[in-house]
Amino acid sequence: MSGVDLLKEDEMKLKANGERLWNSLMEMAKIGPGERGGNRRLALTDEDIEGRSLFREWVEEAGCTIRQDTMGNIFARRNGKNPDAPPVLSGSHLDTQPSGGRFDGILGVLGALEVVRSLNDYGIETKSPIEVAVWTNEEGARFPPAMMGSGVFAGVLKQEEIYANQDPDGITVEHELRRTGQLGSVPCETFPINAYYELHIEQGPVLENENTSIGVVTGGQGAVWNHITLHGQGSHAGTTPMNYRRDPMMGASIIITELREIIRKHSTAVCTVGRLETYPSSINTIPSRVFFTVDTRHPDQEKLMQFNEDLKNLVNTVCSSEGLENEFSIVQINPSVEFHQDCINIVRNSAQSLGYSHRDIVSGAGHDACYLNDVAPTGMIFIPCDNGLSHDEAENTSPEQVAAGADVLLNSVLASAGS
Ligand code: GLV
Ligand code: MN
Ligand code: MN
Repeated sequence: MSGVDLLKEDEMKLKANGERLWNSLMEMAKIGPGERGGNRRLALTDEDIEGRSLFREWVEEAGCTIRQDTMGNIFARRNGKNPDAPPVLSGSHLDTQPSGGRFDGILGVLGALEVVRSLNDYGIETKSPIEVAVWTNEEGARFPPAMMGSGVFAGVLKQEEIYANQDPDGITVEHELRRTGQLGSVPCETFPINAYYELHIEQGPVLENENTSIGVVTGGQGAVWNHITLHGQGSHAGTTPMNYRRDPMMGASIIITELREIIRKHSTAVCTVGRLETYPSSINTIPSRVFFTVDTRHPDQEKLMQFNEDLKNLVNTVCSSEGLENEFSIVQINPSVEFHQDCINIVRNSAQSLGYSHRDIVSGAGHDACYLNDVAPTGMIFIPCDNGLSHDEAENTSPEQVAAGADVLLNSVLASAGS
């Protein structure tokens, strides 16, 4: 990494324009409004594209040139004194959960835009170019897996396989990339990158509880996503005695309850059943089939895999006692990650020299940064969010916290890009 000379504490005191960043966040939040003040901009829907168009307008106004790759990832480039030097990348995602917040992802994209705008205001030409990145479908809420664009970019996911992935209505990723004009001309593959920084809300309660402004993210916990389908026998709800039934909903409820027991054996593990669908979904019919998802996470990769093995055994045991069949597929494995020590130090020193309270923290959520970490020195900056809430329309943070995060991002990017 170049430009580490800028790590000297007294040099890192530039401030971003927090008010401008807040106003841009509020402007973006008008696109794809939710029902309770949040947002619904699922990946590659018309709302997502509208958000991307507004982003394009803003980066062009800021003097950037835009490239788009074959996964729809967007790179907005501010050139440097040395245009051939590997750029410093910073960004996140503009897509949201179905009933999501205004900051998850958007803060990282618009925070990076604010870095460019602030550098323009200060008239600073960096040595390395800076690129603002928008990664496609980070959330994975419409098309699994999560972090799809950055995963293909990092070479962990295969583009042909990802193109074929379908949303719950059977529409493929490739179809939506083409329909929305997001299938760019540049191959989706990594290139030399000086460093990658991502600003994000914490999405948990730690910083707020400790009254701390900045989380210096040292890594992220691992995650495994499972799709489970239980098959039984559909039948009449009134005429079928209980002991004659092969009811997959009964099986699902036993599995979901028992999951808590497994969790107790793996302290610090978390698991979530976020989707549950019965077929044919009729009040007076015993379902023939039940589909549900299980999201499991643990900071220790070995324990996470053991936990998933236990889950698989549980599904098999319950199915044999209830007379059911099952399909069990793992749709995503994200190993736990440790970010690059240089980037961690730069973020910590930036927060320190700006006078912001800070602490090291491990991310509970997945982020594009977790894939970028495979191909570039990577670091993340967290700011607190109200009551630790995220993936809900109640997600909130304050203009002051946003401004502090942008200041740390600006100084971190500058430290890596050099001036
Ligand atoms: C991304 O939002 C995740 O599921 O952690
Ligand atoms: Mn996010
Ligand atoms: Mn998210």
